[in-house]
Amino acid sequence: MLKLTLKYTHGRTVYKRYIIKALPIFFNREFYKNTYIEELENKFKEFIGIKYAIATSSARFAIHLIFKCLDFEKGKTEIIIPAYMPRIVAGALKAIGLKLVFVDIDPRNLNIDSNKIEEKITKNTKYILIVHLNGIPCDIDNITKIAKKYNLFLIEDSAQAFNATYKGKKVGSFGYASVISFSKFKNFNTCGGGMVLTNDKILNDKIRKEIEKLPHPGRLKTCKFIYDALIDSILRTNTIHRFIYLPIMNFSIKIGLMNRKKLLKIIFRGRNSGHLKSVLNIEEFYRVFGLKYTNLQAKMGLSEFSDSKFWKRIKQNDDNVNMLHEKIGATTFLTEDIEPCYFFCFIQIKNPKKIYEQLAKEKIQTNYFRYPNLIQEKILGDQKKQYPIVEKTITNMLYLPFRHPLK
Ligand SMILES: Cc1ncc(COP(=O)(O)O)c(C=O)c1O
Repeated sequence: MLKLTLKYTHGRTVYKRYIIKALPIFFNREFYKNTYIEELENKFKEFIGIKYAIATSSARFAIHLIFKCLDFEKGKTEIIIPAYMPRIVAGALKAIGLKLVFVDIDPRNLNIDSNKIEEKITKNTKYILIVHLNGIPCDIDNITKIAKKYNLFLIEDSAQAFNATYKGKKVGSFGYASVISFSKFKNFNTCGGGMVLTNDKILNDKIRKEIEKLPHPGRLKTCKFIYDALIDSILRTNTIHRFIYLPIMNFSIKIGLMNRKKLLKIIFRGRNSGHLKSVLNIEEFYRVFGLKYTNLQAKMGLSEFSDSKFWKRIKQNDDNVNMLHEKIGATTFLTEDIEPCYFFCFIQIKNPKKIYEQLAKEKIQTNYFRYPNLIQEKILGDQKKQYPIVEKTITNMLYLPFRHPLK
């Protein structure tokens, strides 16, 4: 029998030892320097196999910077994006003036359906943005072919796909530009942060100039990033989850006092970095994310990168997912070209909410989380069109715990 031990399906522990290693920087002059940032950028250039890597405050701001430095006609230029993706990314693209054109997803892996891209291309299309969702690479060959045929810029959102490969090459190396995220829930995390990856020197130089203009977050804000990440990681530990979250949730649901959404708000203190409003308002966006990445976070990243335990954990997580897929008979479709690095582990199942509640009673932590429906967000547009696969698939998803250990 397969026993699921309790590890949160989404969150990842922020490893305190990386913070402790980086802490001396907080108290000395290196805090405002770039030494470790440059070292981390060099590590990523080599790791991804790309010429330029530019550290940013977050992946969403990295996406913003890419388009800020590209030439397009605001309100007219179209960008093709998957109809299922985090709305903060869609919001950031909309906020900078791009017209969003959605493409339905492939139900087998929830990524953009590459066979449905061509029919969405018009004379105004200039960009395709793909998202390697859940750490599973998209159908790169077909997408790059289309991008070449129509002379479109391909942008990869590899925020969830650190270490995933396609035909032996790391994702993030295929697009004209790509982004990666180091936010507190990602496999590789530095309590926030991200990078732009590109082979284009001109884009690199422009983005670096933009970053120079940004303020440094300073010690107080940096403390807040770390505090936030630590608190979140504590709230998501097994003990808290098992002895506080699940009993309260079960009890409250039983007596009809609350629904799960309300409970999550209370337990996770209403944190939601996915607020659409915060990216749609450019001033607010700059106030929160328009900051430089810090040397201290880069030092954390370097410690993590050189830690063999980190790589072992990543491998263990992937092995766990493979085992789960095998035992459960998973529906995820993988070709031999694809080597995922799992961020989430999902299965498709009827009535996920019911299963979630049943498993919660057994103290097994699953989640039926899904991204808010982009199509229904009036502000993002395109509501009249049909995206049957998104509608059908995302209501049947259940995320399983897979993070080490799993028995
Ligand atoms: C696919 C994807 N892109 C972009 C982002 C934004 O990343 P960040 O939180 O670093 O801005 C996320 C965050 O969860 C994401 O999942």
